[in-house]
Amino acid sequence: MNRLGEMNETHTDLAQVIRLALAEQTEDVRLFVARLVRKYRTTDPELAEQLDLYLRNKAPRSGAPLRRATPPALPTQAPPVDDESRLSLLKVFKDSPDREAPLLSRDLEENLLQLIEERRQSKRLAESGLTPTRSAIFIGKPGVGKTLTARWLAAKLEVPLYVLDLTAVMSSLLGRSGNNLRAALDFAKRSPCVLLLDEIDAIAKRRSDDTDIGELKRLVTVILQEVDEWPATGLLLAATNHPELIDPALWRRFDLIAEFKMPDISSIRAALKQFLGPDFGLFGRWIDILAFAFNGESFSDIEREIQRFRRAVALGTASDADLIEEFVKTRALALDRQGRIDLAVLLAKQTRLSQHTISDITGVSRDTIRKYSAEQPPNAKKSPRRKSDQ
Ligand SMILES: Nc1ncnc2c1ncn2[C@@H]1O[C@H](COP(=O)(O)OP(=O)(O)OP(=O)(O)O)[C@@H](O)[C@H]1O
Ligand SMILES: [Mg+2]
Repeated sequence: MNRLGEMNETHTDLAQVIRLALAEQTEDVRLFVARLVRKYRTTDPELAEQLDLYLRNKAPRSGAPLRRATPPALPTQAPPVDDESRLSLLKVFKDSPDREAPLLSRDLEENLLQLIEERRQSKRLAESGLTPTRSAIFIGKPGVGKTLTARWLAAKLEVPLYVLDLTAVMSSLLGRSGNNLRAALDFAKRSPCVLLLDEIDAIAKRRSDDTDIGELKRLVTVILQEVDEWPATGLLLAATNHPELIDPALWRRFDLIAEFKMPDISSIRAALKQFLGPDFGLFGRWIDILAFAFNGESFSDIEREIQRFRRAVALGTASDADLIEEFVKTRALALDRQGRIDLAVLLAKQTRLSQHTISDITGVSRDTIRKYSAEQPPNAKKSPRRKSDQ
């Protein structure tokens, strides 16, 4: 343990004030002192009163910056950093508003467009005594666009996106994570922005196996308070792959619950078009087969595979046909018998591969391929079933 850890709490507070003061983070000093006033009010009322007096004598430089309604004076200070690890607690993204939109299901897209519209017309809402959506929680499997969508939203709203990595907060010294979290949240509250609490389940996950339950409870409390009090000038987002781990008390505090689904066949087609970019023409004849074979994969898995194809083609290390053949062969292993038959029929119909090759790729006998090809028109839209679904 380091020296700071050995000091008693007052010393730690003093050290923190000095650190902030020397770094000329005046606003942080003010926020921190305000917290000390609350903290010492019961244990040391005299000190609390003295500190309060100092605070009052020194008015903040510009009105009430926390609730400022006008956009987007960029914060002048660097985002806060955890003292121990020096990891930046907040990742900053400033994307241009014409950033490409993520591929979203229709429902989700409508919800998010409304959210953007609410902010553009917040005055109109205010006339009816309403505020725009202040907070949303994104749920969905890995690689379906939660973080990407947060970036897009911030870009559309023309404010920066700050991503708070809760794993970094948690891994910082226990006992200090509450402070770290508050520092990060205070920073984000100071100017209009989108703040994403990424992997918010990190807290819940740790709760089951951690020794310091008290500290985790404090973290949850901090987050609950923040979600409740988040100023309407900012948008607070949280993302998780594990909705089942989220504290119900936290859950119901979000204004919007946005569910990111695994892509269906039509989104996979759109994704292929987007990810193939200028190589779409080259791979065009394989689209039905790729859409079939990628069923059940996330957008980011699809993107990774497509990037691999494109690199191989660009370097001339493999032809598109070789790549697809090898890929489909691997994917066929994950399908049940009917899925493999459907794939074989699709290959027979859509490619010039010999039945021998198709049989080799799919493990379906040539007789069966002939039988099914003659019997039923293959249906590319049908979802392949995986072994695991049985
Ligand atoms: N809906 C989507 N539209 C377009 N591209 C996507 C989409 N979802 C994912 N991708 C691609 O996959 C990458 C990873 O997606 P992202 O980081 O948004 O996933 P995530 O849902 O936040 O996953 P995790 O839960 O692992 O954090 C993106 O940078 C993008 O290239
Ligand atoms: Mg993410």
